[in-house]
Amino acid sequence: MGTRIVSTGRGGTGKTTFTALATKYLEHPLLLIDIDPDQSLADMLGVDIAKADVRTVLDILYDLQKKGSYEELGTMPLPEKIDYLFNTECIYESKNFDLVSLGVKWTEGCYCAPNNLLRGIIPRLSQSYSYTLIDAPAGLEHLNRNVTSDIDDIFLVLDPSLKSMKNIERIQKLAQEVGIRYKNLYLIANYRFNEETEETVRGLNGSYLGKVAYDARVEEYNLAGKSLLELPDDSPAAQSVRQILIRAGYRVRPV
Ligand SMILES: Nc1ncnc2c1ncn2[C@@H]1O[C@H](COP(=O)(O)OP(=O)(O)O)[C@@H](O)[C@H]1O
Ligand SMILES: [Mg+2]
Repeated sequence: MGTRIVSTGRGGTGKTTFTALATKYLEHPLLLIDIDPDQSLADMLGVDIAKADVRTVLDILYDLQKKGSYEELGTMPLPEKIDYLFNTECIYESKNFDLVSLGVKWTEGCYCAPNNLLRGIIPRLSQSYSYTLIDAPAGLEHLNRNVTSDIDDIFLVLDPSLKSMKNIERIQKLAQEVGIRYKNLYLIANYRFNEETEETVRGLNGSYLGKVAYDARVEEYNLAGKSLLELPDDSPAAQSVRQILIRAGYRVRPV
């Protein structure tokens, strides 16, 4: 079975950038799951999933609640319908990675029943990949409710703020409360740390794997909607993410 990795942290710390750069280096085949309502992973990889006719998971769950939708599926039981629609409509496939986006319709009604049905689908799908990378928002509730409670490694991306530091304890507590099982909690400093502030993270309770270096090209590429996979291997940001993956003991592709 493949390794399941979650990248989390406060908004704007660099979670999605980390996930996109990890996509550049982790051994194939790769499955990416975007469960952040911010939904920027596809953008950072230069992909327009709607244009590719791929739908988000919440879109299909939303449509399933509407009368008269998917009539062609007849009397198929709901779990089978969801399974079928997920597999036929929600997986974006490409040479470097496959991508599933959960979508943004969190607030429009209760998805509790279908959500629980979803929990079996992604873990099963992830068995066919070397790595499954999940880009998650700061809380881990969505992860637990919608995707899985079994994770290998959590990467917490920190910015140099007290709030971010407090987030470390919060994540550990939350994981325990909602029942997420994980093997390692890795800490990563984002590009805004300097040598002095980095010392604070080194001394913290958790496995510190290093800092994602600053690269102005990351901002340029993001602004232009250009894929971070095209960032040259000599990019400090790309190189540091590759080193972090090696320190975590992952199989990376040669450069
Ligand atoms: N290593 C880096 N060097 C320069 N800019 C970065 C780097 N990492 C992230 N950024 C910038 O920071 C912003 C937030 O990053 P993002 O990955 O979207 O954060 P999050 O997913 O945590 O909200 C983006 O505009 C991105 O361009
Ligand atoms: Mg993000």
